[in-house]
Amino acid sequence: MAYLGLDLGTSGVKALLIGEDQDILGSAHAPLTVSRPHSGWSEQNPADWISATEAVLDALRAEQGAALSGLRGIGLSGHMHGATVLDAQDRPLRPCVLWNDVRSHVEAAELDADPRFRALTGNIVFPGFTAPKLLWIKRHEPEIFAKIRRVLLPKDYLRLWLTGEAVSEMSDASGTSWLDVGGRRWSPELLAAADLGEDQMPRLVEGSEVSGRLRPDLAARWGLPSGVVVAGGAGDNAASACGVGAARPGAAFASLGTSGVLFASTAGFAPNPASAVHAFCHALPGIWHQMGVILSAADALNWFGRVMGREGADLVAALGETPRAPSGVAFLPYLSGERTPHNDAAARGAFVGLGHEAGAEALTQALLEGVAFAFRDNLAALEAAGTRLERVTAVGGGSRARLWLKILATALNLPVDLPADGDFGAAFGAARLGLIAAEGADPLAVCAPPAIRESFEPDPALRGAYDEAYARWRRIYPALKGVL
Ligand code: XUL
Repeated sequence: MAYLGLDLGTSGVKALLIGEDQDILGSAHAPLTVSRPHSGWSEQNPADWISATEAVLDALRAEQGAALSGLRGIGLSGHMHGATVLDAQDRPLRPCVLWNDVRSHVEAAELDADPRFRALTGNIVFPGFTAPKLLWIKRHEPEIFAKIRRVLLPKDYLRLWLTGEAVSEMSDASGTSWLDVGGRRWSPELLAAADLGEDQMPRLVEGSEVSGRLRPDLAARWGLPSGVVVAGGAGDNAASACGVGAARPGAAFASLGTSGVLFASTAGFAPNPASAVHAFCHALPGIWHQMGVILSAADALNWFGRVMGREGADLVAALGETPRAPSGVAFLPYLSGERTPHNDAAARGAFVGLGHEAGAEALTQALLEGVAFAFRDNLAALEAAGTRLERVTAVGGGSRARLWLKILATALNLPVDLPADGDFGAAFGAARLGLIAAEGADPLAVCAPPAIRESFEPDPALRGAYDEAYARWRRIYPALKGVL
C-alpha cells in the first residue's frame, strides 16, 4: 500500500511516496518559476502547475511503478492565499496572483477597515490574502471579474484537475479572508463584501477527510488503481505541521522556506490581529494554529545568491559552522514587503551599516541574522497572542544550513531541533493526510513527531551581543519607513 503527497511549492512541485509504515519510497521534483511583471507583483500560470505535476508523476512512475500500483491515497499541499480565477468552463481567466504579491494593499486596507473582517476571520486582511486580490481584479480588470465562475486556491486547482471536484479545506480556506475561522465555514457576509457568493466557492472538508477520487483517465495514464482517495490536504504550513508532528496544542516549528513561518498549534481559535499574528484552522479537525509569517526568508538568501552570482548555500558554507558576534552590518529582509509584525506592503529590504571592510561574508552573516531577528519579531507576536514556545523544530530548505539554525536558536533564545534524516515537510504531511483519509486512521497516531538528529541550544556567550544587535535592528525599520 502507498500514499502520495503532492506539494505545490512556490519554487516547484514535489511528490513524495510513502508506504504503510510511512517509510519514504520515492520522491520527485519539478521546478516552477515566479513571474514578477512589476515590483510587488508575483504570479504563476496554473497550467504550469499541471505540467509540473505531470512531470513528477512521470518521474515517479519510471522509478516506483510497482509501488504506485498499490496507491490508495493522495494528499495535496500548496502555497496559500493565491487567487486562481476560473470561467464557466473552469479555465483560468488570468495568471494566479500569489501569496507574496502585494499589489492589492489598498484593497486590503479597505477591507481590513470593515470591522466584520477581523471579527469573523480573526485576522488582519493582509494584501497577500485572497479577498483583496479579488477586489483588485474587480477594479483593474472588470472584464475578467465579470467572467469569474469560481475562485480556487492553488492546490485546489490541482485537485480540480485530479478529481473533477471543486473542494477546499479549512487550513487553506483560513487564508482567504472569507472563512469564519472559528466556525469553520464560509462567511456569506464577507463574500458579499467582495461581490462574490458562496456558489463561487469550493465545498469545504477537513484536511484529513476524503475530498474526491482520482479521475479514471489519470489513473490509467500513470498505472494507478481505480478509486484512489484524494484527501482535503492542507495549506503548506498546516501540511508541514502534519509532517513534523506539530499536531498537538503547543507543538511548534520554524519553517525556513521561500517564506519564513513560526507556527504553533493551539487547542482553540486564538486570534490576535493586533500583533499581526495569523490565527487559522489546522488541517486536522477540532484544532487551530497561530503563525507569524515573514515574506522572504530563504528567498532573501536566494536573492543575495543571484546578486553575487553564487549559490546561497555556498555563501553560507563560506562562513563555517560557528556563529560569530553580529558585525554591525544589519539586514532587513523585507524584499516584497512584510506581514508579521509590520503588515507593510511598501517596506523593502536594506543592508545598513556598511563599511569598507564589509565583504560577501559580512553581508551573508547579516542576512542570516536579519532573517533570524525577523523570526524573533514573530516570536514576540505569538507571545502577545498568548502562546509561549518552549522549543521549535526546524523545517524547510534553509534548515539544511546548520549555521543558520544556530543563529536562530540564539536569536530566539530557544532550542531548535533538527529532525533526523528524512523528509518532514509539506509533501510528507500531505502524504500523511492521504493515508488518514484513505484508511480512516487516527490523525494523532499518524502525525507523530520525528526522531530528532540534533538540537541547537542558544549560545550563552553570544546572547548579550545578539540582544543588543536585535535592539538596534528593531530601530532600523521605523527609521527607514517613509524613506524607501
Ligand atoms: C502563509 C504564506 C506562505 C505561503 C507560501 O500565510 O503566505 O507561507 O503559504 O509558502
